[in-house]
Amino acid sequence: MIIIPEEQAAKAIDIRQTMDAVKGAFRACSAGEMYPGGRIVMPISGEHNNGQWLTAVCRNMPYFGSKFSAVFPGNKECGMPVDQSTISLYSNVNGEQLALIGANYLTALKTGAGAGVATDLLARKDACSLGIIGTGFQAYAQVLAIQEIRELKQLRLFNRHADRLEAFAEKAAKAANRDYEIIKCGSADECAAESDIICTVTPSREPVLADAAVRPGTHINAIGSFTPDSHEIEEKTVARASFITTEHVDAVWQTAGDILIPFNKGMIGKDKVRFSVGDVLSGSVQGRTDDKGITIYESIGSCVLDLAVAIAVYDRWGKTA
Ligand SMILES: NC(=O)c1ccc[n+]([C@@H]2O[C@H](COP(=O)([O-])OP(=O)(O)OC[C@H]3O[C@@H](n4cnc5c(N)ncnc54)[C@H](O)[C@@H]3O)[C@@H](O)[C@H]2O)c1
Repeated sequence: MIIIPEEQAAKAIDIRQTMDAVKGAFRACSAGEMYPGGRIVMPISGEHNNGQWLTAVCRNMPYFGSKFSAVFPGNKECGMPVDQSTISLYSNVNGEQLALIGANYLTALKTGAGAGVATDLLARKDACSLGIIGTGFQAYAQVLAIQEIRELKQLRLFNRHADRLEAFAEKAAKAANRDYEIIKCGSADECAAESDIICTVTPSREPVLADAAVRPGTHINAIGSFTPDSHEIEEKTVARASFITTEHVDAVWQTAGDILIPFNKGMIGKDKVRFSVGDVLSGSVQGRTDDKGITIYESIGSCVLDLAVAIAVYDRWGKTA
């Protein structure tokens, strides 16, 4: 077994390579060649601390894998990562463990890449302004991915904490791939109202932006809502959306507060979330059909995507080590 520590794993793959890996995983999932296994969430000491095990299996490659994430929200106060993740990669020929990979940054890269692929498929072709609500750890990779797939003219940012907004704006300016404007907004609604593409990247339990701030033709990547009580997108926006797509349709109905809350209020039916990103990629369903509709990628996190990224890192490891 090889061990690829966090710092090396982060250098082994870039956002374009991650998007390629994630695209392959979305397609393989839609074709039944990769699929997620069970997910265990185990409360640990403290009100919000938990351990999460996610699993995934390949039929098209000789691997299976798992990701373990220790989620300790209080770590932010002492400068430690809130999410500490490792991926274990195994042979599906003989069960041997092939690699143990530090996956804090890989998780963000994978999540950003998933949103990048979804945005490429679903945002308007002329979309050129990106709004990020919640400028934390995951948000950075959202910017890295989306600036690769649309020619951005503006990046709008909002955080409830002014110091985090300031620090992120500086970091984003260094990572910008072209000379676009970076605008620090005074509210989430101000950020959303001028954005063609919006990413919500918070652990919020109540909507982070008003429905009225979402213009027709907007594409939203909702990243933070992966438990039934997490909630970033207003019910009216979910109801107004042309459709919602995700990594795994069945899992959305078990995990995503953004979808479960309006469903339980009778505001949407099951037909609102009826296909995955992989289904659009494979051409079996059509994505955006006009410039006026609102589209939402509701990301719940998928070990299939983590596994695909881990395989790509494992394959490159010999070349980069
Ligand atoms: N979908 C996925 O695959 C996936 C993967 C990893 C993490 N996540 C989730 O994404 C969310 C963000 O994770 P992170 O690691 O970036 O966390 P983080 O703590 O680093 O960043 C979140 C930021 O959001 C800000 N924030 C909170 N509420 C806000 C609000 N109402 N308006 C504006 N800003 C607000 C916080 O100040 C913080 O800076 C979490 O819920 C996490 O569990 C999802």
